Amino acid sequence: MAAVEYMEQQARETIEADAQGLLEAHALGGVAGLVELVNLRSAYDPDRASFYLVVDGQGRQLAGTIAAWPQEPPQAQGFWRLELVDRRPGGRGSHQILARAVELPGGTRLLVGRDIQDKIRTQQLLRNAIAAGTGLMLLLGLLGGFALSRWTIGRLEQVNRTTSAIMAGHLGRRIALEGGGDEFDELAANLNAMLERIEQLVASMREVTDNIAHDLRTPLSRIRSRIEVALLKDIDRAEARELLEATMRDADALISTFNALLSIARAEAGSQGQEMEPVDLAELAHDVVELYEPFAEERAIRVEVEAARPVVVRGNQQLLAQALANLVDNAIKYSPEGGRVRVEAREAATPELVVADRGPGIPPELRAKALERFVRLQPERSTPGNGLGLSLVAAVAKLHGAELELADNRPGLVVTLRFPPTAQAARGDGLRAATAAV
Ligand SMILES: Nc1ncnc2c1ncn2[C@@H]1O[C@H](COP(=O)(O)OP(=O)(O)OP(=O)(O)O)[C@@H](O)[C@H]1O
Ligand SMILES: [Mg+2]
Repeated sequence: MAAVEYMEQQARETIEADAQGLLEAHALGGVAGLVELVNLRSAYDPDRASFYLVVDGQGRQLAGTIAAWPQEPPQAQGFWRLELVDRRPGGRGSHQILARAVELPGGTRLLVGRDIQDKIRTQQLLRNAIAAGTGLMLLLGLLGGFALSRWTIGRLEQVNRTTSAIMAGHLGRRIALEGGGDEFDELAANLNAMLERIEQLVASMREVTDNIAHDLRTPLSRIRSRIEVALLKDIDRAEARELLEATMRDADALISTFNALLSIARAEAGSQGQEMEPVDLAELAHDVVELYEPFAEERAIRVEVEAARPVVVRGNQQLLAQALANLVDNAIKYSPEGGRVRVEAREAATPELVVADRGPGIPPELRAKALERFVRLQPERSTPGNGLGLSLVAAVAKLHGAELELADNRPGLVVTLRFPPTAQAARGDGLRAATAAV
């Protein structure tokens, strides 16, 4: 203990200084001078802290308050620790002193001592305080650790209970937050957000599956009943041919539904970074419109293309062509006979692809809905289709980081695909910054 060491060191230094003074007295006044000073110092000692013994060559006491020369050799560094009984009036009774012998010429010996009882008491107090403090600290540490681990385990158990409940089928269960905003709350909030997202995805997947099942059942049962008719009835060659042709149409519809679903999945997976290449939207517009020319003519619809100069974006040629085809298909399909459709590829603030018609349009509140899979807005099955066209457009837009906007053409619908700036698209940033605003 450094503090105690320091206090003893102080006592030793005082003794040394005291001894030095006495040595000088001896040098000046011989034994008599020494005895005189010892007597003086013993008499005038307000602290009652200094002790002396002067003995002659025969060991007889000449002066001082220490009764006898110690028998045993000094303990440490030439110092004794002596038990002394101070019987002077107002003395301290039994107490400990630190003392040191001073050799003098001529056989006289001097012992100079200093009370260290106070220092010993301080030492004990310090020891006790340190022991108590350490004990208390240990106890508090243990208690704190115990409480903390109980609390941590409690929170973890809560998470465990909730996840078990979710695994048992209670998908709507969420982890309770304590509201303290600590790491556990943050973890719980993140887990809850994750569960929310998974639940949404599962729900939308279930909806898609339901819709697929629903959409496929009708053509499949039609195919089946035709086969049944062919098997049961005695039909001639012409009739058989008719049945087979109808069956083929249904099979084609089924295949195109699956193809559309696969294209959407492919666009949504977005894992085809290597298939991104420069695509000229103007050329794309001319090609797609040419493809739809016969369909448009059938409905006496005039399709205008405004795409004079190349408008180059980085993208997937095939998916972009399919998306544009779906938009042109809709524009022609939902326009009244004799209507007009405009397809435009232009470099505005950024590259844009626009398809506008003068048909019935889509009311603002239904525009987001129209992008969902298998959603068709007109209840009567007046036009062919299964509600996947715009879903693919949305997925392709997202893949290209393009903004998809459905707006009013007064009358009709105008669909705009706003691609990211070409330089940015070239760096591939468009893939990440996917937005599809409606
Ligand atoms: N140009 C348009 N004018 C008016 N309504 C439209 C137009 N385009 C789409 N819609 C509406 O949005 C719905 C969804 O369009 P989407 O292209 O996704 O499906 P679809 O055309 O019905 O079928 P598919 O494209 O799969 O053959 C359509 O059923 C239609 O009601
Ligand atoms: Mg369509």
